[in-house]
Amino acid sequence: MKKVLVIGGTGVLGTSVVNTLQQQQIEFVIGSRSQVKKGSYSIVNQSTDFPWKRVDLATGEGLAEALIGIDTVIHLASAPTKIGGEPFEVVTTRNLLKALNQSKAKHLIYSSIVGVDKVPFSYYRAKLAAEKLIQQQGIPYSILRATQFHDLINFLIRKLLFLPIGFVPKQLKFQPIHVDAVSSELSRLAQAGPQQTVLNLGGPQLFTLETMTRLWMKIHGKLKPLVPIPTIGGLMKSFEKGENTCPEKAVGSKTWEEYLLENQERLS
Ligand SMILES: NC(=O)c1ccc[n+]([C@@H]2O[C@H](COP(=O)([O-])OP(=O)(O)OC[C@H]3O[C@@H](n4cnc5c(N)ncnc54)[C@H](OP(=O)(O)O)[C@@H]3O)[C@@H](O)[C@H]2O)c1
Repeated sequence: MKKVLVIGGTGVLGTSVVNTLQQQQIEFVIGSRSQVKKGSYSIVNQSTDFPWKRVDLATGEGLAEALIGIDTVIHLASAPTKIGGEPFEVVTTRNLLKALNQSKAKHLIYSSIVGVDKVPFSYYRAKLAAEKLIQQQGIPYSILRATQFHDLINFLIRKLLFLPIGFVPKQLKFQPIHVDAVSSELSRLAQAGPQQTVLNLGGPQLFTLETMTRLWMKIHGKLKPLVPIPTIGGLMKSFEKGENTCPEKAVGSKTWEEYLLENQERLS
């Protein structure tokens, strides 16, 4: 039976991954800087009951010890920041690869985002650079690119609706996915072994941000004027073209409406 180290296992996706591994009776340990994530953009059902080791991927602290007895690493640690002038994703992935080279682990799974090779956004470029580092290193790997999580879109909509009038960029496309569908796939990959390729995974429906915002307002009983604004700049144009989506890889995850209804009280 494989033992899995989930780096970033206290985050939005990480919490779902450890719940899935627990249900499937796959042995795991969480690696992160704190036992419970602080300041998350979303609400996560965290537990301090899970096995946990302090790991800081930015410095490599705790990594060698956390890798002892580990067969598979699921790398979910992420931040849109820089460390010493270099993107967080690049520095942390490089530190991880270095430690993996000296360990007995046989499979690295990296969580990436659909469209990192197309969408002109610095965070996405950093993730693409991290993917390339992994592919060049020779450590057996699987890279899973997922579309935007419901939690992220919920966060975005709340920001858009902060003012008395909601300004929503028209025609931005999203294919939101529930984190549980992503964690199921990550767990499947952990059991299947290295795929040596990049896989895409998207939610069941394609929406415009405006449609998702209207549904959000309807379910939360919020009444306020919504003013569609034009898309400007390369990033918005890329989302307008749907370069962040993969309709051919849609999976049966919970829908946006189901997510909103399920979390209605927590999100209000
Ligand atoms: N959000 C989306 O819509 C989306 C879509 C597709 C793919 N993804 C990818 O999925 C992954 C997880 O995203 P998420 O939204 O779950 O992130 P998140 O909620 O922000 O969680 C990030 C995790 O990384 C850990 N972390 C941060 N800095 C660290 C460090 N220096 N060393 C060790 N751990 C560190 C955090 O714990 P500590 O702060 O305690 O260390 C936390 O557990 C990311 O790679 C992201 O790009 C996200």
